[in-house]
Amino acid sequence: MNNQNIFNEIRKKIDIVDLISEYVPLTQKGRNYFGVCPFHNDTNPSMSVSREKQIYKCFSCGASGNIFTFVRDYEHIDMKEALNILAKKIGMEIKNNIETKNTTKYDKIYEIYDLAYKFYQNNINTKEGIKAKEYLKARSIGEDIIKEFGIGLSLDSMDSLTKVLIKKGYDALTLDRIGLSSNNHDLFINRIMVPIQDATGRTVAFSGRVYNKKSDHKYVNTKETEIFKKGTILYNYHRAKEVARKEKYLIIMEGYMDVFRASSVNIKNVVALMGTALTVEQSDLIKRTSNNIYLCLDGDEPGQKAMMSVGEQLEKLGLQIKVICLTDDEDPDSYILKYGEDKFRDLIDRAISFSDFKLSYLKKGINFNSDLELSKYVDTVIKEASNINDEIRREIIIKKLANETNLSYNTLEKRLIEYLGKNQSKHNDIVIVNNKKGTKLSQYDKAVYGMFYAMVIDRKYFNAFKREALYFTTAPYRYLLTEIEYYYKKYSTIEIADFYTYLLDKEDVLALYNKIISYVDSNTINDEAVNDFMKVIKENNVRQEINRLKDLMRKTYDELEKSKIAEEIKLLRIGE
Ligand code: GTP
Ligand code: MN
Repeated sequence: MNNQNIFNEIRKKIDIVDLISEYVPLTQKGRNYFGVCPFHNDTNPSMSVSREKQIYKCFSCGASGNIFTFVRDYEHIDMKEALNILAKKIGMEIKNNIETKNTTKYDKIYEIYDLAYKFYQNNINTKEGIKAKEYLKARSIGEDIIKEFGIGLSLDSMDSLTKVLIKKGYDALTLDRIGLSSNNHDLFINRIMVPIQDATGRTVAFSGRVYNKKSDHKYVNTKETEIFKKGTILYNYHRAKEVARKEKYLIIMEGYMDVFRASSVNIKNVVALMGTALTVEQSDLIKRTSNNIYLCLDGDEPGQKAMMSVGEQLEKLGLQIKVICLTDDEDPDSYILKYGEDKFRDLIDRAISFSDFKLSYLKKGINFNSDLELSKYVDTVIKEASNINDEIRREIIIKKLANETNLSYNTLEKRLIEYLGKNQSKHNDIVIVNNKKGTKLSQYDKAVYGMFYAMVIDRKYFNAFKREALYFTTAPYRYLLTEIEYYYKKYSTIEIADFYTYLLDKEDVLALYNKIISYVDSNTINDEAVNDFMKVIKENNVRQEINRLKDLMRKTYDELEKSKIAEEIKLLRIGE
């Protein structure tokens, strides 16, 4: 079977509505299904999924495709992996010789990282790992956690890993470039090694923790490389994403230790920020797991501050944010160790809404005697309240605020109404922008779109088009026709979603095809309609031919030739 056949085979067996429903809730409206598009920041159901065409399309950001592109783009993986995931779903075995784009470029680096991962893991199970294991045991990290997270050990030696890798045939320059060595020396020496994986579970970096010596750096991380961009990784994401989808929420913590501890009490829908600010890419990953996000950063001031900014960022994506409040100066690791699993689960159940968290955070440290601070505080709280979609809660907040500041309820309410008005107009803007997006097509383009659609869904229309000796004069139309012709020759029938796969590496043609399949309603295609399309296209062909001849006539000086051309034009006009 060639690649296209393998793709088609799998595509036939997986319904796109069922597949996308596993990631995004869909509701049926008419013949299509609608859901919130996962490929841009949105809260409206702007993505439509067609069971009939086996295609999805977002009317807001334009993302579109079939089951393969959906899984590829949702999971941030390449086509080969998307194919494997979907093949597995239907119990199909894929031999590893499928050639898809972008698969081999980094394979060697992943291979080396895998070897390093195994090397470190092996070390911790040898005599040299005894001290490290004792350290971990003292922190209540047992064998199961060591295994689950692939925790390893870099030896107390200058070049043990480098030597092993050089012996395997990798060159020193590559090892330098990918962040494992420097000038034939190991970069990680005598540390407990935490492997860091990307969204698909490949090890792309390490973080090494000191355990038996003093060091200025508690953790040393791999530098950024071709396969490791810090801002695109969340620790433990590849394990947590599935669990979060099932449990319908994801917990965000700060460090590795927090994740290990949570996992040890069977809370596995947890990722860690690794001590950095949240990037757009990371929020994007988070959004793909669930609409419900629980923040559980450290109880100290930096942790609280980070919770404010992370929460605000995620709230903008339309996610429901809750905050798990730890007592001062605890982190999830120490809290669970001290109070146990049940108490921590209680805390999860009693998590507060992000707006409540914000209000209490804003109040901390305010000097109520300073007019400036007080008025700023009042303003922020009212603004916050205006974003809450619940009149009663808004009133409660304003009442409380009036009491604690000794300002009149009416004054505060007036400001609230102002903010509510602003929010309203912001909302209206978005709607107007969306409405503008529909493109107007000329009568000719409409006929061409309809004709293409007809040719794709039924070969008899393609044959008719050829029989009539019709043609297209503009480039993308010509190219698309050529591809359709080729595909029919090779596979004899076309399915809309399979042809999509076929066009994936032909960008311009794909863009046109995309427009056509989302523009044309298949119910409008029948013999009569197709005859009309062909008539319009024919008229256009004739008109173009007449123009070409006229042009030719103008450039010709031979009178005999001129009259011949004139005769041709006359014949064409009669036909018209
Ligand atoms: P323990 O201190 O062993 O409990 O580890 P932890 O994972 O709980 O670390 P902590 O809560 O201090 O920090 C949270 C996260 O920030 C860590 O998991 C690391 O990802 C990161 N981090 C902390 N210290 C350092 C450091 O010295 N260097 C780097 N690169 N990252 C650090
Ligand atoms: Mn810690």
